[in-house]
Amino acid sequence: MADKIVILTGAGISAESGLGTFRDEGGLWAQHRIEDVATPQGFARDPALAHRFYNMRRAEAAAAAPNAAHDALAQLQRDWPGEVVIVTQNVDGLHEKAGARAIHMHGTLATALCAACAHRWDSPSEMAPGASCPACHAPAARPDVVWFGEMPYHMDEISDHLLDCEIFAAIGTSGQVYPAAGFVQEARNSGARTVEMNLRDSDTSHAFDDHLVGPASKVVPRWVAGLLNSR
Ligand code: APR
Repeated sequence: MADKIVILTGAGISAESGLGTFRDEGGLWAQHRIEDVATPQGFARDPALAHRFYNMRRAEAAAAAPNAAHDALAQLQRDWPGEVVIVTQNVDGLHEKAGARAIHMHGTLATALCAACAHRWDSPSEMAPGASCPACHAPAARPDVVWFGEMPYHMDEISDHLLDCEIFAAIGTSGQVYPAAGFVQEARNSGARTVEMNLRDSDTSHAFDDHLVGPASKVVPRWVAGLLNSR
């Protein structure tokens, strides 16, 4: 039986597709205040400001193309004889554009959410304050993105995958945000071999068995080729 592989991706995998990361020099959290655009309180206080932030990111994501790292993970999902589960913190949709399937633990820019009835629908390119829900018609439409203080999506499913994987990889994440930053320890507790791919050390580098240092578009295809050649 081929190994089951679980891969966590963060903003770093999309950096070479031209999308900003959050905590690198000049990143999104250097340009915008988390408390204004990534908390329920900020959205309630000034929904127009938050919508402008997500409208900008939605436009950038729509114009972005997957890079060699996204393509390599899609190939791994196609060609690896065992199960390959991609869990992404990203909301940019680039895994899907590369032909991969991913679990979106922080939601997606592609969908809108009704804060009143939890209905989801394909998000318009531009959302505005007071937009109504197509199902319950309440003026409660919001970006379908998980904010600080909210519970990430699909956590039970993700925990089940971490319980029975043999290989766990983290690509392009700073390891500063939980629960994602704790996945490596859950995988280790299940006996998985762990590998981190990043430009530099992250806050959780100490927990990984192996480290592939370099840009994702270079190290991820190399890692995938190594796995597929070892089948
Ligand atoms: N190749 C590989 N790694 C890269 C590259 C690259 N080209 N460019 C940047 N990185 C790495 C950085 O070294 C850093 O470790 O990507 C990581 C980006 O870290 P963050 O900006 O903190 O992004 P992420 O870890 O995905 O943030 C997690 O925080 O704000 C919340 O919800 C938001 O999902 C996000 C979460």
